[in-house]
Order: sequence, then C-alpha cells, then structure tokens
Amino acid sequence: MDHALAQRPLGSMGLHSSLLAFGAMGLSGVYGAADDHQSIALLRTALDKGVTMFDTADVYGNGHSESLMGEAFEGMRQRVVIATKTGEGADSGRGRPDYIRQAVEESLRRLKTDYIDLYYLHRVDPATPIEDSIGAMSELVTAGKVRYIGISEVGPKTIRRAHATHPISAVQQEYSLFVREAETEVLPTLRELGIGLVAYAPIGRGLLSGALKHIEDVENWEQRKARYPRFADDAFRANVQRVEKMRQIASDAGTTPAALALAWLLQSGPDIVPIFGTRGVAHLEENLRAASLALDARTVSRLTELFPVGALAGARYNEAALKRIDR
Ligand SMILES: NC(=O)c1ccc[n+]([C@@H]2O[C@H](COP(=O)([O-])OP(=O)(O)OC[C@H]3O[C@@H](n4cnc5c(N)ncnc54)[C@H](OP(=O)(O)O)[C@@H]3O)[C@@H](O)[C@H]2O)c1
Repeated sequence: MDHALAQRPLGSMGLHSSLLAFGAMGLSGVYGAADDHQSIALLRTALDKGVTMFDTADVYGNGHSESLMGEAFEGMRQRVVIATKTGEGADSGRGRPDYIRQAVEESLRRLKTDYIDLYYLHRVDPATPIEDSIGAMSELVTAGKVRYIGISEVGPKTIRRAHATHPISAVQQEYSLFVREAETEVLPTLRELGIGLVAYAPIGRGLLSGALKHIEDVENWEQRKARYPRFADDAFRANVQRVEKMRQIASDAGTTPAALALAWLLQSGPDIVPIFGTRGVAHLEENLRAASLALDARTVSRLTELFPVGALAGARYNEAALKRIDR
C-alpha cells in the first residue's frame, strides 16, 4: 500500500470506510467516455493508495459499473468495502421486497462476491412503505448477503422509520460546498441517531474543481445539462463565477479547489465520508491530498461565506429526477 488513509466509522454497527471513498458512477460514461481497462487499473490504484470503500449502484451503466468493480477486486475481496445500491429508476415498485431480493442476486453476480458490505436503498419507492423495503434488506443481513444497510436521498421522517426497522449505518446524500441543504435537518437527525453521512458529488459533479470554465470544457454537456440544470447556460456561468472566487482561497491554503472542497467536507464532522468520482489517476491523487489537509478557521469561514446554503445556481436534478427524492 502506498499510503494509509485513516478510517472513519459509519454508524454504530461496525462499518468503517477510509476518510475518502471512491465513487464508480463516472466509470460508466455519465460524464464522458471511460476506458474499461483504465478504469479497472484506476480502481486498483485507488485501493493501493489507501481508499477502502468503493461505491456503485445497479443502475450505473445498467450494471456496467458493478461489473468493473467485480473485475477489479476479484481475489482481493477482504481488502475492500463494497457499497452498492438498488431501487433507483423511473418506474415505481423498485422498493418492493421481491424486487430487492432479485436485485441483490444480480448485483452479487456482477460484483463477483457473495456479500455486499453496504447495501443502500437508492431511492425511496413511494408505492412501498419504507418498513417493507428495509425489512427485505434486513432479511439479506440475516442471510449473510449484506453486512450493513444504507439509504439515499431521504428526509428526516423516513430516516427515523428506516432506522426503527433495521439500524441504518449510512445515509448517502448530495453534500458539498454547493449543496449544503443536508445541514438543516438531515445531519442533525443522523447525529441524534448515530448514523454516518456519505457525501456524494462532493466536487459538485466537477464544478468545484475549477477545471470547467467554459461550456466547451464540459464533456457530454447536452446530456449533463438535461439531467443536471446546474450545467445549463446561465446557471453554469453563475456557478463558474463563484468557483473562480474560490481559487484564491485554495491558493492561500496551499491546495487546489477540488482538494479544498473535499477537505471542507472532512472537517465538517468525523461522521462524514465524501465519495468523489474520477476517471484518472492524476485527479485521484489530487483529491486524496485532501485527507492530509488541515483547514484553519479563517479558511472555513471564507468558504462558508462564499458558498451559503442555496449557493448552487440551477436545480440539483431535472424535474423528473427531483420527483423521486424523498423529503
Ligand atoms: N446516491 C446517489 O443518488 C448518487 C448520485 C450521484 C453520485 N453518487 C455517487 O457519488 C459518486 C461521486 O459523485 P459524482 O462522480 O457524481 O460527482 P463528483 O465526485 O462531485 O464529480 C465528479 C466529476 O468531477 C471531475 N473531477 C474529479 N476530481 C477532479 C479533479 N481533481 N480535477 C478536475 N475534475 C475532477 C470528474 O471528472 P474526471 O473523471 O475527468 O476526473 C467528474 O466529472 C458517484 O460516483 C456515485 O458513486 C450517488
């Protein structure tokens, strides 16, 4: 192992992750083309550099992202914490116990393993009581197919109901300098219940890296703006302007905007694990530097002033995707 990244507990059931975790969604072409051989090598490099938790979902590339992880970690299962999800998709019924029971088998096959460390309900199914979805996942724990349970994009009431059904180890929510809404109700609820927060899209889907200055810099722009309105014309320009102001703060802290965005999340609480995504080793290395960055109080207050709650221009998702988010 090149480096050892410190471990953080997630929840109170025994789950641990490296300070920073790796998100494998972008390896299935969401933000631009990715090469499978390079992606498999990248996953192994991340492991060698001390990342232990790897995040995927059955919907990422329709199983493709899980298959890459299965390929990358075959023969080294004990060294990785595999997190995957089910229950996301346009049609309802994906939170039904029978759907979950079948989905887990397919994920296990693609991941080439007989257990999943952290299994999330990706979205709450409005047609299925949360107790039924989590109850089915709890049975998977009893059967030894799943070790810990998580849930993604949920409001406080659902978190409480889910946790009363089976102890939840992690809630996965979008959380970054641009999207701080979790601080209002979700984070206090998680802290009261002793549940960890896994912060997804911590680099604001690329915006907080400062690498995207012009629309021409954004790979798959048409597709991205259709799904993520933050990339649409005026919203994109407003977001870039704000990130431009962050450059000086990063430079004064002796780092880059991407590493600063991750370090800010890490200093926000010992119960937070950011999962970033990248397709390249250079960005992986840059992002991992966040783990050894100590931010002083002045840097933190400059950041929170520049990025107040609601700073993101443009909605997080398009309307269809927003409808599937539980509040
Ligand atoms: N639960 C959910 O509903 C949900 C939703 C979305 C995501 N997630 C999870 O969260 C993970 C991370 O989210 P994400 O990938 O959407 O967003 P992210 O980590 O905020 O951003 C990823 C984007 O940033 C770019 N990037 C990363 N590091 C960079 C750097 N140092 N410099 C310049 N650009 C950089 C990547 O491009 P390059 O590839 O070129 O580096 C990619 O386009 C996903 O992989 C997935 O596992 C979960």
